[in-house]
Amino acid sequence: MSDWKIRRAPAIHTEITVPGDKSISHRAILLAALTNGPCVIRGFLPGEDCLSTVGAMRALGVSIEIQDETTVLVRGTRGVFKAPAGDIDCGNSGTTMRLLSGLLAAQPFETRLVGDASLSKRPMKRVIEPLTQMGAKFVAEGGDGRPPLKVKGAKLRSIQYASPVSSAQVKSAILLAGLFAEGKTTVTEPSQSRDHTERMLEYFLVRPQKNGLSTSIRGGQTPESRDFEVPGDISSAAFWLVAAAANPDSKILVRKVGLNQTRTGVLGVLLRMGAHVREIVENEEAEPMGTVELRGARLKGTVIEGKEIPNVIDELPILAVAGALAEGLTVIRDAKELRVKETDRIAAIATNLRAMGAEVQETEDGMEIQGGKPLRGATVDSFGDHRIAMAFAIAGLFAEGETVITGTGCVATSYPGFEAQLQELIKEQRSEPIPVISQLPQSDS
Ligand code: S3P
Repeated sequence: MSDWKIRRAPAIHTEITVPGDKSISHRAILLAALTNGPCVIRGFLPGEDCLSTVGAMRALGVSIEIQDETTVLVRGTRGVFKAPAGDIDCGNSGTTMRLLSGLLAAQPFETRLVGDASLSKRPMKRVIEPLTQMGAKFVAEGGDGRPPLKVKGAKLRSIQYASPVSSAQVKSAILLAGLFAEGKTTVTEPSQSRDHTERMLEYFLVRPQKNGLSTSIRGGQTPESRDFEVPGDISSAAFWLVAAAANPDSKILVRKVGLNQTRTGVLGVLLRMGAHVREIVENEEAEPMGTVELRGARLKGTVIEGKEIPNVIDELPILAVAGALAEGLTVIRDAKELRVKETDRIAAIATNLRAMGAEVQETEDGMEIQGGKPLRGATVDSFGDHRIAMAFAIAGLFAEGETVITGTGCVATSYPGFEAQLQELIKEQRSEPIPVISQLPQSDS
């Protein structure tokens, strides 16, 4: 695995796009496979995680043609799949394993799902529990609900399930299984998680019903085949947004990025921290997408907690870096979920920020960062986690001396091309002014 060497960079002035949204790319493949015909998916993220979903659906007999890197043709099979010839490898992808569990719960065969060392440690009880209630049988070979998972499908019954975690993966697994169950399946979450599955079901003309934090689906419906456009990933954009936010002389425009309100919490946090942020939704057909304009500032600390957490869950590593670069205290709490991501992200962030000279107190469900101490370059590890690698690459842009990030191969799971874009951004610093969208009739978000 290659290392990255990063040095302090001047202010950035740039206009960029980011690769397709990871969560939406997974769902586009899965839902297109359930439709009654061909669907062309444009803007697909060709990251390893989404390719794990492609491989899984191919193993289940679905024809998927990658026409160019980001354009994929899926021929829907109306939810009729064939038993795979061997294990299905979900790689590093929790989304693949959990959402697929929902589909496989209804299939008349047994499947074994395996993953890499990180995925093999991640909790699957959260999907095993409701899907077992619906009638499927699971064996968690790793013990205590850990993968490998054997899934034996069955004729499913509908359930009303109150999920103990705000997890879009759990919600989605139940809704996908609910499509095959008799009657109406309802899932209720403690607070709103990303709603891409619900939106995509709607887009493919299956009508989920929403009632507060509950979503219901009637079984026996076949999604209608349609083409789909995936917006850029706001979670990937977040790295560049923080790179610009923490320098008062920086400015960035991110185009064609997803602006689903269950995902844009990062913009609200950066606004609270003092950055100047505007968002403009330009298209809302399947998912809202548009432009974000951000101008940097002297950031100040903030508190990130409660209902906001599911909305920023994947951005917390880079927001913690923003906290270290801000004046005053940043507190992250109610984020225990970070401990069961690709790595224990609370421990990883605290370890790396401390190595760079920041003052961080780890708590059980988050951390406290006393910001404003100058960061110094250090050698920090990715812990095999793509978002840790990228967050600390951005930290390196603000540190004295050289920062080395080890184990950066994992970045290919969600952001192939990150390194090239980083190099481009540093050297690009253009002299001409970039376009502004400030004249548009929108107030700060
Ligand atoms: C995802 C949901 C989130 C997120 C993950 C992708 C999804 O996980 O952290 O990166 O695509 O549904 P949880 O649903 O487990 O919170």
